[in-house]
Amino acid sequence: MKVTTMLGTLGAGMLLGTQVAAAAPFGGEEDTAYAASLWNALSEANLVGEGRTMSAPYTGQHPHGAILDTIDGEITVEGTTGPVIIKRNYGGEGVSKQEVWDAPDDYLGAVTVMFKREGYDPDNQDWFWVKYLPGGELDTNPQGVPLAGRVAKGMDQGCIACHSAAPGGDMVFGHDRIR
Ligand code: HEC
Repeated sequence: MKVTTMLGTLGAGMLLGTQVAAAAPFGGEEDTAYAASLWNALSEANLVGEGRTMSAPYTGQHPHGAILDTIDGEITVEGTTGPVIIKRNYGGEGVSKQEVWDAPDDYLGAVTVMFKREGYDPDNQDWFWVKYLPGGELDTNPQGVPLAGRVAKGMDQGCIACHSAAPGGDMVFGHDRIR
């Protein structure tokens, strides 16, 4: 399945004249390294990690957490400045909005991020997608591929497939401020 996908994307990439390095849609070396830089930039901006800025937790919907908190800002990653949206996904026994306010780290399950990286994926609004575990390591799909980059371009499941349905054509559900 992975081989077919990679060949399919390679074919499309060659047709479009894009770099062969961009052949795998996500989770390759370049994407995982970029995701690490992105985490560092988020950390410096106090958007992830200890003492991060919180926004009001609210009741979430599938596939994000039972309780969510979403915040956005602007950061610079490896020379590219752009808007970023961070969604913290909370779950676990006894989780509630109040508990999350009081002790977010006890319930944090994952940190999902969209960073608008100019020129990275014009077909999909240039979003760079990542799913981090609470400490900044990358989560993976069931095949063990890290969820970082164009997740999962050309496939009928994943960040891109689902977020394509967001209103306003920006792939963002929460608002239409970032185009
Ligand atoms: C099956 C559908 C679905 C999938 C798959 C999905 N999301 Fe979402 N996502 C949503 C919905 C719905 C919202 C709005 C939820 C809310 O805030 O109530 C959302 C919100 C977000 C937001 C906040 C910005 C916005 O659009 O409102 C981010 C960031 C985000 N998702 C990242 C990701 C990443 C990264 C992935 C892949 C690892 C992913 N999502 C996969 C449905 C999905």
